[in-house]
Amino acid sequence: MADGQEVETRAKFREMLEGSKDDWDIIAEHSRHFNKGLAGRVIDHLKLLDGDFGGFPVDRLTHSLQTATRAHRDGRDEEYVVCALLHDIGDTLGSFNHPDVAAAILKPFVSEANHWMVANHGMFQGYYFFHHLGLDRNMRDQFRDHPHFEYCAQFCHLYDQSAFDPDYQSEPLDFFVPMVERVFSRPKNSMYLRKTEE
Ligand SMILES: [Fe+2]
Ligand SMILES: [Fe+2]
Repeated sequence: MADGQEVETRAKFREMLEGSKDDWDIIAEHSRHFNKGLAGRVIDHLKLLDGDFGGFPVDRLTHSLQTATRAHRDGRDEEYVVCALLHDIGDTLGSFNHPDVAAAILKPFVSEANHWMVANHGMFQGYYFFHHLGLDRNMRDQFRDHPHFEYCAQFCHLYDQSAFDPDYQSEPLDFFVPMVERVFSRPKNSMYLRKTEE
């Protein structure tokens, strides 16, 4: 175009019933580019926790960085550290089910154990405070026989419930960005993956 801007290629259908292979090639090409930006969008969303204290001794981004730093310094692998970093990313939109939000975002990229840990960390974290709110701190015991019970309990004990120290020197967010980019570049569990992409 005269102003140097390219016209964005778009599918032509008005309803999906009319969709053609050409239409879907266009959409697939767009999604390939869009998907590459996922890690950046996740990091941007995580930054919304900055300055959000909610009455806690540290804000939610500081808590996330501290959880991830503790896991990293304890020798956990990259996927685990990214789960630790993002475990509370759902606090902004999932006020009543924040672990579900993080688990959904991470699900295509992490092991079943890590996914279960993130999805259930809220109830396991409750062991440390539910009794102060008139709730059952042993709510997690309904999963006592689950193969990932100890794995999740350990995450909360070692890295999550312990990550509210205002004096702890965490790594900055930039330290973790390459890890998030690597983990989010390798989807292994999605209905949109063709067999050859898995
Ligand atoms: Fe949480
Ligand atoms: Fe947390």
